[in-house]
Amino acid sequence: MAAAEATKKAIDGAALVRRIRLGSGLVLAFFVITHFLNHSLGLISLEAMEQGRLYFMAFWRAKTAMYVLYGALLTHLALGLWSLYKRRPILRVPPWELAQMALGLSIPPILVGHVFDTHFGFTLAGVDDTYAYVLLLLWVERPYGAVLQIALLLTAWLHACIGLHYWLRIRPWYPRAVPALYTIALLLPVLALLGFVQGGLQVIALAETPMWLESYKQTIDYPDAAGWARIRNAAETGQQLFLGGIALALLGRGARRLAGLRRKGASVRYPDGGVCHIAPGTTILEASRIAGRPHASVCGGRGRCSTCRVRIDAGEECLPPPAPEEARVLRRIAAPPKVRLACQAKPAGDVQVTPLLPAAASARDALRAGRESGGREQQVAILFADLRGYTKLSEDRLPFDTVFLLNRYFAETGQAITGAGGRIDKFIGDGVMALFGAEDGADPALACRQALAAARAIGEGLDRLNHALSHELKEPLRLAMGLHVGPAIVGVMGYGPAMALTAIGDAVNTASRLESIAKERDAQLAVSQAVVALAGAKLDAHPLEDVAIRGKREPMPVRLVARAADLPG
Ligand code: FES
Repeated sequence: MAAAEATKKAIDGAALVRRIRLGSGLVLAFFVITHFLNHSLGLISLEAMEQGRLYFMAFWRAKTAMYVLYGALLTHLALGLWSLYKRRPILRVPPWELAQMALGLSIPPILVGHVFDTHFGFTLAGVDDTYAYVLLLLWVERPYGAVLQIALLLTAWLHACIGLHYWLRIRPWYPRAVPALYTIALLLPVLALLGFVQGGLQVIALAETPMWLESYKQTIDYPDAAGWARIRNAAETGQQLFLGGIALALLGRGARRLAGLRRKGASVRYPDGGVCHIAPGTTILEASRIAGRPHASVCGGRGRCSTCRVRIDAGEECLPPPAPEEARVLRRIAAPPKVRLACQAKPAGDVQVTPLLPAAASARDALRAGRESGGREQQVAILFADLRGYTKLSEDRLPFDTVFLLNRYFAETGQAITGAGGRIDKFIGDGVMALFGAEDGADPALACRQALAAARAIGEGLDRLNHALSHELKEPLRLAMGLHVGPAIVGVMGYGPAMALTAIGDAVNTASRLESIAKERDAQLAVSQAVVALAGAKLDAHPLEDVAIRGKREPMPVRLVARAADLPG
């Protein structure tokens, strides 16, 4: 229990750390953006840069903004080192996260020099750190100064963009905003770089006039040798502190690892019998990474996307209860009992888990699959559609032609289903299974109307296809569909990348059987009277038959529709 309590506290702390990292990162990103905008004024002129700098300084050197900025900088830096100390095992960290960490840690060594040249040059040596002063240092006085500055600019921007992307990508609106955001992410640094280069070229030209150089240095109180010594000493101290911080983090990391080896570990068992033995404090998601098992984690283990969720099949008592952050996400997706976020749950003993989403799941899948992951029973309309005479059709054709033809048919069918509001469950050979009303709380009557509309649209699509291919086909393509509504178990089922929302049960088998009946009766659609009644459809023009369904004692009333395109709209 004590271990579980400690783990719970650690999780609460991790959520707080994430929030602080995000907040400080946003402040720094805002600073970088304003800095870039100021740089880009160099495309107009050096004077424009200097004018822009006045506003920039008025804002960022105001007391409050300055404290917030330096506070954010130090906090973000400290959290970077903390992450280096805490995160494990580093080789199992996703590549993008590793890249972001590496970029983040490579910023301070260059940044320290720049900050001490400018702000601390101002406070320690009294220099007026104008744009011309900084450009003079970087483009004229310091070999490679401009190159390092460009590297700093790009590194900081990439680091910020990766962070922003992984923060925003679980938002529903984000995919739509990507083109605009991508344009901004590209334009800002390009304009800033061009402005920086343009300004640098102007200063190089000015510096070729010794008189300008001398008088300008006097104007801005350019530091003398003693001033530079103070700046350099302070900058070197800053760099040493940072390198010391990295060394400490790495040493601490090694010590933790040694201590972890001595403590009794836990294990995570997977449905296929695979087991991963882990050190205490390791999350289930980290266990999957250690074991080299693909495991969805859209937000990178930040406890926000829910794609990593697992069902705890055994050993639930070895997990601390969800921390408030995790509980909030689980509530948001209406997770059933025993479902936990793999990135937050740290087993203190042996557990058995089943990942609930495919490894390639997206944030959208996570939202959609909320309730379904646990499985539930509800009324669903199921449509089976099958291309008739497919075997004969493929015998006379080249494989390429067969694939082309099938894809045209699948496109028509798929559009008809999704256009009517249904969900393609699976393509099986030349057939398709579709679900209507599989969402939690869906209205079965609406589902039946949607399914009938889809059947009609599939019939119309087939007519179009036959017309378009009339010169290539010896005889028109034919189709048989079965449609039924009834209770089914809906849930995310399958294994690994093949896991998906589907439905199983007697109603599904019946719909499949109706498709066979449509073939036997040479009709395009066999639809159960249950669907017709629920949809409130008028199908009196189509014959009604009582058909025997295997496994059912009573025959089932079924409407046989010769041409699905004739269904009422
Ligand atoms: S990886 Fe996103 S919530 Fe676990």
